[in-house]
Amino acid sequence: MKSIMVINSKGGSGKTTVSVNLAAYCAQFGFKTTLVDLDPQESSTQWLEARPLSKAKIHGTKNFNKPLKKEKNTVVIYDVPAAIYGSRLDTYVKKADMIIVPVLPSPIDMKAAKVFIQYLRSMGPVIRNQIKVGLVANRCRANTNIFLELDTYLLKEKGIKYITAFRDNTNYIRSASTGLGIFEMGASATAQDREEWKPLIKWLGLNS
Ligand SMILES: Nc1ncnc2c1ncn2[C@@H]1O[C@H](COP(=O)(O)OP(=O)(O)OP(=O)(O)O)[C@@H](O)[C@H]1O
Ligand SMILES: [Mg+2]
Repeated sequence: MKSIMVINSKGGSGKTTVSVNLAAYCAQFGFKTTLVDLDPQESSTQWLEARPLSKAKIHGTKNFNKPLKKEKNTVVIYDVPAAIYGSRLDTYVKKADMIIVPVLPSPIDMKAAKVFIQYLRSMGPVIRNQIKVGLVANRCRANTNIFLELDTYLLKEKGIKYITAFRDNTNYIRSASTGLGIFEMGASATAQDREEWKPLIKWLGLNS
């Protein structure tokens, strides 16, 4: 079983987008997939409700404490709300094997991410390497100065891996409204996005 948490204290960084696309990928490629929506806004639950019945099944729950099956082929993805700190954050993080932190390429987001990442880095299980933390730059427009800045900044975060960058693209908006993941959408329209996802899938050890 793999337990993957998508988390960043900053709102709107792409936590739900990454969570639902990852869930769709896992289900499509044969993993028994659970999507845990911890956000009272219920965005990933709404995405799941829009998901066509013809697509690979994803089990949705809002129950953090639900006992999870430890079967080998199982993936559990947690979509964590913004602004979670202190003991609640500690409790959440302890459930994860791997943590993905999506970060937007804006000065405000990068500053907030830095504080959050430093907090994560100071946590026992992260120090002991029991939980791996990876950063994903999201909504990037390649070659803009701010993207280069984010790139350089993420690379400097020692002990925490900078995995990939996702472009800013309407495919993700379409994914949000249709209940599909980008790997389930038109291959040519999503070719670049699929390429950008590959390093994340590899890092998570989910290669099909
Ligand atoms: N790479 C992208 N390209 C285009 N739009 C994106 C991308 N990533 C996210 N979005 C859009 O940005 C908005 C915020 O993304 P999302 O809801 O995933 O963030 P979040 O971190 O879950 O927000 P919250 O903190 O409110 O839970 C959504 O409308 C989403 O569709
Ligand atoms: Mg969200």
